Amino acid sequence: MTFKEKIHTENPKGYAYIYTIGCQMNTYDTERLFFILGGLGYVKTNDLHRADIIVCNTCSIREKAQEKAFSFLGRVPPLKKAKPHLITIMTGCVAQQEAEEVFKRNACIDIVLGTQAFSRLGGHIMNVLNGRGQITDVEDSPAIYEAMPDFSFIDNDKVSRFVTIMQGCDNFCTYCVVPYVRGRERSRTPESIVEEISILADAGVKEVTLLGQNVNSYGQKEQICSFSDLLEQISRVSGIERIRFATSHPKDLSDDLIYAIRDIDKVCNQLHLPVQSGSNRILKKMNRGYTKEQYLERVGKLRKNCPSIALSSDMIIGFPSETRADFDETMDLVRRVEFDGIFAFAYSDRPQAPASKFSDGVEDAEKMERLNELIQFQDEMTHQKNQALVGAWEQVLVEGLSQKKRHDEGENPSDFPQMTGRTESGKIVHFYGNNVCPGEILDVKIKYAYPHSLWAVQGR
Ligand code: 5AD
Ligand code: SF4
Repeated sequence: MTFKEKIHTENPKGYAYIYTIGCQMNTYDTERLFFILGGLGYVKTNDLHRADIIVCNTCSIREKAQEKAFSFLGRVPPLKKAKPHLITIMTGCVAQQEAEEVFKRNACIDIVLGTQAFSRLGGHIMNVLNGRGQITDVEDSPAIYEAMPDFSFIDNDKVSRFVTIMQGCDNFCTYCVVPYVRGRERSRTPESIVEEISILADAGVKEVTLLGQNVNSYGQKEQICSFSDLLEQISRVSGIERIRFATSHPKDLSDDLIYAIRDIDKVCNQLHLPVQSGSNRILKKMNRGYTKEQYLERVGKLRKNCPSIALSSDMIIGFPSETRADFDETMDLVRRVEFDGIFAFAYSDRPQAPASKFSDGVEDAEKMERLNELIQFQDEMTHQKNQALVGAWEQVLVEGLSQKKRHDEGENPSDFPQMTGRTESGKIVHFYGNNVCPGEILDVKIKYAYPHSLWAVQGR
């Protein structure tokens, strides 16, 4: 009997709702929380009003994300009035950062659970149920995830899943809260990761995205195994067809990893390589550990070895003291690299991060103007890159039915459903699927390029 069947056949203790904000790592943490809550007898619900436990899994990377958490939690007081036994938990980076301060903003929160405190959640819930009042647990813990033994309690029809391979960060970029809210860098053992991925493969998963703040330094501290060796081991898991990973730090992108992307078939032809800025002065103030020239050298080596690799990046616009000339350096880099896509953010002061003490903040209006200029340029580049694929054959891993219908392209020959999938380079493709199932890898011919996705026909 699977875990899910077990908790469904026994009387559930109650229902758990989790609201997730932030990065892919939080998505993975949410699955872990469902697993832990499942073990305590709680069943997942998507209906907030049905919940006996509400968890808000938060992000503090920018102020906007942090405020989103408090605005969600603002919906809890009336629910709690109607259901006094309702337990409210705040976890994730805001919980770790603010600790008991959060009670001042929302008195309905029962448990503040730090990013390293998941294993103690059961005890805390028990204490709240026994009337112990509000609990804060933001203790550090050197422990790292073990393999999740069973995924059947969460939506197990996904063909693509995240697997966190390491936690924390030792890089201390001056704008970033991650080292303060996720602790020091530590890696899971390769055995535990491979075991978890094998379990996923047995459940029908075809693609995994390995997560860490800086996957290129995986295992270095512990001297357990290099990241390229880990990729090699994962590629031997039968059933797994595609491997992706994020995030790579340019200063640690080794030749070894470039060769692994080139030589290991299952490793996708795609890399997310955040540069943050094109100005050497700003990169230094950010403590990034590389120059614009060094970044361009790494991109050159990557493209030489993997000519069709899709590259994406993160950018911060309006870092303290950024001048128009600094921004022009960023635009120059973006023009030269020709990224497939970027995530561009306006710099946001984070009180715990050193840059919040830097003087010469950039005016909001100037920041937004630069940001819009960058986004507009990149949107056109992304569209151009998509247009260059028209007429090409691509292999698409089918993910499921399209969420958004695209009626504007092509006649539907015989009422086939509209499906969606991704190319090896990570681009979204829509097509009419003739008898296809999620998890299949299909040959499709690209017919049309939208700004952020492609339209294709099934073939061959
Ligand atoms: N302000 C704006 N963007 C930030 N990021 C991290 N910290 C900040 C901040 N204080 C961005 C970086 C990072 C991405 C995950 O978030 O670009 O790569
Ligand atoms: Fe933050 Fe820098 Fe670490 Fe990334 S590498 S998590 S930006 S400190």
